[in-house]
Amino acid sequence: MGEIKPLQTLAVDIGGSGIKVMVLDEQGNPLSERDRRETPQPATPDAMITTIVELAQDKVFDRVSVGYPGVVRLGITETAANVSPEWIGFDLGSTLTQYLGKPVRIINDADMQGLGAIAGQGVELVITLGTGFGSALFVNAKLLPNLELGHHPFRKGETYEQQLGKAALDAVGKKRWNQRLSQAIANLSHLFNYDKLYIGGGNTKKVEQELPANVIVVPNVTGLLGGIKLWQD
Ligand code: BGC
Repeated sequence: MGEIKPLQTLAVDIGGSGIKVMVLDEQGNPLSERDRRETPQPATPDAMITTIVELAQDKVFDRVSVGYPGVVRLGITETAANVSPEWIGFDLGSTLTQYLGKPVRIINDADMQGLGAIAGQGVELVITLGTGFGSALFVNAKLLPNLELGHHPFRKGETYEQQLGKAALDAVGKKRWNQRLSQAIANLSHLFNYDKLYIGGGNTKKVEQELPANVIVVPNVTGLLGGIKLWQD
């Protein structure tokens, strides 16, 4: 009898500022360091796929999980708020499969982060604070895909992303950004009545406030760790 070799998954987190990768074992534990490159500008499919292929070069893997910062349906990227508009309607699934020679599954980046963060019980909401504002909603571990809270009105005629994305943080500073965040958490709590709210993304390091007991900040690597869940159906 031949030995069954455990499958290794390359998790890829495509962000507006950085592209991150890590190899995971079948349980979702890291088998490599987290490797990161700056997102090329302009952030076109061509340039970003080249970066992903370069990051993958020295890694051993059998399949690929990708988190993309926009709406994703059946491997096609449908929106592109913080990357080049060339991504709208792009067949990322087929293209990456061709370049990497391995099966590829793709979901929204906040959805992937959420899969790595949740406990799997009750209503769990995830928001991510990075270049953009990501969101994901789960009921008993079941994902409602492509929730786009970031582009919904929040306050002063602006969306959550306009008020809490990276550009806003840079413009108004940590103090006012934290005040906005605390108002956003109150709004979302009243809207979703979640059991748990998870906050992820690179700008969680700027969170300076006491959070309600059911709000949990998750480490950045969660965005990659969630990649294993795309293959556990
Ligand atoms: C996109 C979301 C994404 C978020 C974080 C938003 O601009 O619309 O799909 O999850 O940024 O990257």
